[in-house]
Amino acid sequence: MPGRRHRGVEALARTVAAGPRCPTSRSFAYRFPLVDTASLLSLPFLQDDLARLEPQLRGAVSSGDRFLDEVTTHLIAAGGKRLRPSLALAAATAGRRPATHEDLQGAVAVELVHLASLYHDDVMDEALVRRNVPSVNARFGNLVAIVAGDFLLARSAEIAASLGTEIAALLANTLGLLCQGQVTEVRSAFSTDRTEDEYLQTIQGKTAALMATSCRIGALTAGLPRPEVEVLTDFGRCFGMLFQLRDDILDVVATDQELGKPAGQDLAEGIYTLPVLLALRDPGTGPELRPLLGSPLDQPERDKARDIVAGSGAIADTVAAGHRYVEEAEAAAAAVQERALGRSLGDLARSLLEGLPVSR
Ligand code: IPE
Ligand code: IPE
Ligand code: MG
Ligand code: MG
Repeated sequence: MPGRRHRGVEALARTVAAGPRCPTSRSFAYRFPLVDTASLLSLPFLQDDLARLEPQLRGAVSSGDRFLDEVTTHLIAAGGKRLRPSLALAAATAGRRPATHEDLQGAVAVELVHLASLYHDDVMDEALVRRNVPSVNARFGNLVAIVAGDFLLARSAEIAASLGTEIAALLANTLGLLCQGQVTEVRSAFSTDRTEDEYLQTIQGKTAALMATSCRIGALTAGLPRPEVEVLTDFGRCFGMLFQLRDDILDVVATDQELGKPAGQDLAEGIYTLPVLLALRDPGTGPELRPLLGSPLDQPERDKARDIVAGSGAIADTVAAGHRYVEEAEAAAAAVQERALGRSLGDLARSLLEGLPVSR
């Protein structure tokens, strides 16, 4: 019954908003600053450009059908960091001028692909809360969430086509990589044999590809010289790797409230991310953790597994792995010709690992 499901999920969203509920968060009191977009937002024009983006984003998903409009604006209205459009706009303008119509449309196109990926990802993960509100699948059901996600992709493709063949091909290629990443992740579910390389390849596809493309599209709509296009793309790739590593750490150590989405979801879905793979490999924690993995867990088992991973050195080791991408991102940012932009991007990359544990 849709009505009943809706009320149940609203209650869950209220619980999430009301405060932490997972034992892990009580045992390991880390503090997690939000992704610090302040460095980017301090670039002149960017805040105004993001404000101009909002109506364009809503306009892009409008169909004239009241029900479909409600579904496609559900997560737009709920908020989100607008990280990918911020990257696209910053790459395009470097804070030197207001965004053009093409820059804004490029930013809309990448946010639409991201939104669609969230619609589909929450169906795949059976996630009930997203951006602190009921997920689209929880509110409207899986079938509507899937088709509405496809609708968002269609609108993104239409915009990309209006921006030229290079951008249209780039976005289509990125979507393919994103799907490949998601499929390899699903195929590795509940596999304790998942390797570090497989994990890194998966996150490169499902997350880093779109971050790289966000920067690249901004560089392309601005008509930047090719070396600048390449260096900004490279920054986006490293930033995306780092961003997903952070997300995977937070899934283990943060609370639902801090995330605006359920923590511990990866373990529940059998997605063994780098912290879990490293804790499995650790002779101190592996023997206790391994018997818990390989099949679905009930809540107490999931909390126990999270506690083991959170209390192991694997979190700090994952942060250390992230530092490799911070260094790469810094190198790319240092090569950006627009120095104010390069500094902002470098600060943004460094901010991702701040507040996370660094040693045992
Ligand atoms: C969530 O991305 C999906 C991941 C790649 C981990 P964001 O954390 O950027 O989501 P919103 O847009 O702020 O909700
Ligand atoms: C994010 O993967 C990748 C995409 C949404 C394509 P996650 O499954 O880790 O994202 P969250 O944690 O649900 O936001
Ligand atoms: Mg997910
Ligand atoms: Mg996640």
